[in-house]
Amino acid sequence: MKVFVTGATGAIGGHAVPALVQAGHTVSALARTPDKAAALAAHGAVPVSVSLFDSTALAAAFAGHDAVINLATAMPSTSQFVIRRAWRATERVRIDGSAAVVDAALQAGVGRVVQESVAMLYRDHGASWIDEDAPVDNYPATVGNHAAEASARRFAAAGGTRVTMRLGLFYGPGARHSEQMLALARRHLGLVLGPPDSYLSSIHVADAGTAVVAALHAPAGTFNIVDDDPMTKRDYSDALAAAADATPWIRLPGRVGLLLGDRLTSLTRSLRVSNARFRAATEWAPRYPSAREGWKATAAR
Ligand SMILES: NC(=O)c1ccc[n+]([C@@H]2O[C@H](COP(=O)([O-])OP(=O)(O)OC[C@H]3O[C@@H](n4cnc5c(N)ncnc54)[C@H](OP(=O)(O)O)[C@@H]3O)[C@@H](O)[C@H]2O)c1
Repeated sequence: MKVFVTGATGAIGGHAVPALVQAGHTVSALARTPDKAAALAAHGAVPVSVSLFDSTALAAAFAGHDAVINLATAMPSTSQFVIRRAWRATERVRIDGSAAVVDAALQAGVGRVVQESVAMLYRDHGASWIDEDAPVDNYPATVGNHAAEASARRFAAAGGTRVTMRLGLFYGPGARHSEQMLALARRHLGLVLGPPDSYLSSIHVADAGTAVVAALHAPAGTFNIVDDDPMTKRDYSDALAAAADATPWIRLPGRVGLLLGDRLTSLTRSLRVSNARFRAATEWAPRYPSAREGWKATAAR
C-alpha cells in the first residue's frame, strides 16, 4: 500500500514507520523540520513538509495514497500533565488536525484512515475486562480523543474505511513519559498511579508500531491496542522496579492520586482492557505480552 503518516516522528511513529517500510509499504510522512525529514528518509520514508491544519495542502499531499495514518499528538510534559491549559496544544492537534486530515483524505479519494486514540476513554471498570463495547467517559483530557474519533467516524459515514486505535499507556524507547518513569524507578521511587489493586493497560511502543501495520488490513471499526496482560498498579510498579533493578523505597502517589480528580483520572482509574478483538481480526500479536517483559527489554536498552 501507499500510506501517508502524520505524527511519524513521535513515540509510536518512530516505530511504525520502519515497521511499515519493512512490511513492504511505500511510506510518505509529515516532517516539520529538515532534521526530522532526514530521520524519516533514513527509515526509508519520503518526508513531506505540509501543515497538519491545512486541508487543501494535505489533500495534495495525500493524492495517490491508499491510506492515511494519523498519529499526531502534542501531549503535555509530565510536570504539566495536571495543568488544564497544557492540554490545548494536543487538543488543537487532535480536534482541528484530525478534522483537516479527514477533509483532505475525502478530497483526495483516500480509501482508509487509521486514527490514534486512547484506551483511557473507558470508564473505571475495577477488575472487570473491558472490550470495545464498554461505555466511555467524557472528562477534560479526553476532549481531543472524542473529537478525533468523531472525525474518523465522519470519514466512514462518507464511504471510507476507518480504523480507530484505542492505545493503552505507551512505554518503551522514545516514549518520553516512560523514560522518566524508569529514571524514577532507578532512584527507588515506585510510581503507583492510583489504588494499588486497580488495573493499568499499557503497550510497548514497538508493539504499537506493528499494530499500525496490522491496522491497514483490519476490518473497519474501533480496536483496543494494549498488551495481553493488564496488571494491577502494584504489580506494574514491581515490574518497573525489577526492570530498574532497584527496590522501591517509597511508592507514590497511590490512592492519594485520586484527590487530583479529573486532572489525573486517565491514569488513576482502573482499566483492564482486552485486545482480543484486534487479535482476532488481524494476525497481530504483541512481542511483549506484558509490561514485565517490556520494561525489562526497555531497561536493557
Ligand atoms: N497512549 C499514550 O499513552 C500516549 C499518547 C500520546 C503520547 N503519549 C506520551 O506522551 C509523550 C509525548 O507525547 P507527544 O504527544 O509529544 O507525542 P510524540 O509521540 O512524542 O509525538 C507526536 C507526533 O505528533 C507530531 N506533531 C505534534 N504536533 C504537531 C503539529 N502541530 N503538526 C504536525 N505534527 C505534529 C510530532 O511531530 P514533531 O516530531 O515534529 O514534534 C510527532 O511526530 C510521548 O512520548 C508518550 O510517551 C502517550
